[in-house]
Parts: sequence; C-alpha cells; structure tokens
Amino acid sequence: MGDFTDFQRFIPDRMHKLQVRLKGWWKMRQVYEKLVNCVDQVRRRTDFVPRAAIVLGSGLGDYAEDIRVESELSYGEIEGFPVSTVPGHAGKFIFGYVGDVPVVCMKGRVHYYEGYPVSDVVLPVRLMKLLGAEVLFLTNAAGGVNSSFHGGDLMMIRDHISVFAPNPLVGPNLDVLGTRFPDMSGVYDGGLQKVIREAAREKDIYLQEGVYAQLTGPSFESPAEVRMLHLLGCDAVGMSTVAEAIAANHMGMKICGISCICNLAAGLSATPLTHEEVQAAADMAAPKFKSLVTEVVRRL
Ligand code: HPA
Repeated sequence: MGDFTDFQRFIPDRMHKLQVRLKGWWKMRQVYEKLVNCVDQVRRRTDFVPRAAIVLGSGLGDYAEDIRVESELSYGEIEGFPVSTVPGHAGKFIFGYVGDVPVVCMKGRVHYYEGYPVSDVVLPVRLMKLLGAEVLFLTNAAGGVNSSFHGGDLMMIRDHISVFAPNPLVGPNLDVLGTRFPDMSGVYDGGLQKVIREAAREKDIYLQEGVYAQLTGPSFESPAEVRMLHLLGCDAVGMSTVAEAIAANHMGMKICGISCICNLAAGLSATPLTHEEVQAAADMAAPKFKSLVTEVVRRL
C-alpha cells in the first residue's frame, strides 16, 4: 500500500501527463482549424475539383506552362498559408487540365529548413486532397547518391527514407484525416510506377529508379553523410518530399514521385555544390521532365 508521500507524487505526475495531452490536442486542433480555414478560402475563389495534385520542385516550376489553365491562386492570397522563401520556388496553385485530367499544380513548395513547422510543410498536400485530388505526383530536385547516376537523370521514386527529418504525424492523431498508425509498405503506388515506366518508354526517356532520402537541409550533405546514405540503400538525396508523402499516405492518396538528379551528391563530384548549379541542371532536364509528367498524367 502506498503512503501519503506516494499520493503527493501521484497528483503532480497525473497533472503533468494531462497537461502534455491537453497541449497536444490544442496544437492539433489549431493545425486542423488552419487547414479547414485555408480550404474554405480556396473554395471561395474556385469550385474546381482536381483529380490529381502535382508538386513542382526546385527549378521544375516551368512545367506549369504545359497546363491548360483555368485559374491561379497565389499562396500569399490565402491567409495562414505557408509561403516559400526559396529562389526558384514561385508560390501559387494552378488549376487546369493536362489532357482531359483536371489537376491542381503547386508551383513551389515550402520546406522544413525555411523554419516552418512540419505541419505547415504538409498543409498544402492535405489541402489538395480535401479539394478532391486522389493522386499525388511529387517532384523534386535531388543529388545523386548512386554513383551510376548522372546530372540530368530522372529517377522514379520507389521508396523513401527520412533521415533526421520530423514525421508530420507526431502528436495526437487527427482521426478525420487518417489512421493513427498508417501502413507504409506501399507508399509509392505500384500501378502508378508501372504507368511511369510505360510513359518513359513511350517518350524514349531513360529512367533511373531508386530510394529517395530526405534530410532537413538547408546545408548540402557532408561527404560522410553521403557515404552513410549509400550504405543505407539510398539512391538520391534532397530536402523535401518524404514528409509530404507521409501526410498524403495518411490521408489515403495514391502517390508517385520523380526526382530530377541535378548533381552528384557531395564527395561524389569534383566540384562544390551550389543552389545555382542545381537550378541550372533542373533547367536542362526540364524538357524531358515536362514530357514525362504530361504523359503520365494523361494516362491517369
Ligand atoms: N543534396 C540535397 N538536396 C539537393 C541536392 C543535393 O545534392 N541537389 C539538389 N537538391
């Protein structure tokens, strides 16, 4: 039997646990209210219902030129919506058609390294799902960890590894969005992978395949980190995508992804890395990237 001292300890301990839970619920409530508020604001501007959502990575924003545009909405016009601070990441939603497929395209995304909480990083993807998008097409600029890759290659993402980057589902679960413990064994949809392979073959585009690793950035990796990623089984590395894929998978979206390999990761190339080099390589790969994305979306 416990004595009075145990009882005295029991009360603050219980109070502390309750406080932690209440704080968590309060935070998640705020996250959800912000999401619903952003969806409401978008819905006041457009009733467009997309079937697919496309996220354009660094330097790949020009893809938006291939869309038959119905309307556009700058992120800055949506109160509470995270706005990118990165050069090469214009911030707007484009609603329109690729072939007959209604799409919403994010021209620019926000990253964890910009100082946004991960709940803000994944807000846009959640928003696009709530607008109606069932399919999510993620793209990014990445460094090649696989030494057989070359700058300008396109890599279809088969799976991912998150290294030191926070999981967007930490905290009390928002049951209205998805389950507490989502299965992650098939995040990148097998059917969509087949479509991407067929589209690449049709367009005569050489396609690499592999595992994408997200680190937090903004510094590029050290050569030792790149060697670690290689040992872990990663083929490409970048600073985005995985958190978005986790949140989209939580909400039951069908996901696929393509990395544009802009450079060989640190230690694998003779020259130091710069953001400008990444953008220049993305520009060079842009025509085949555009043609592949268009062909895949048409086939959805
Ligand atoms: N590392 C991380 N992110 C990147 C790289 C890289 O080498 N290249 C383009 N984005």
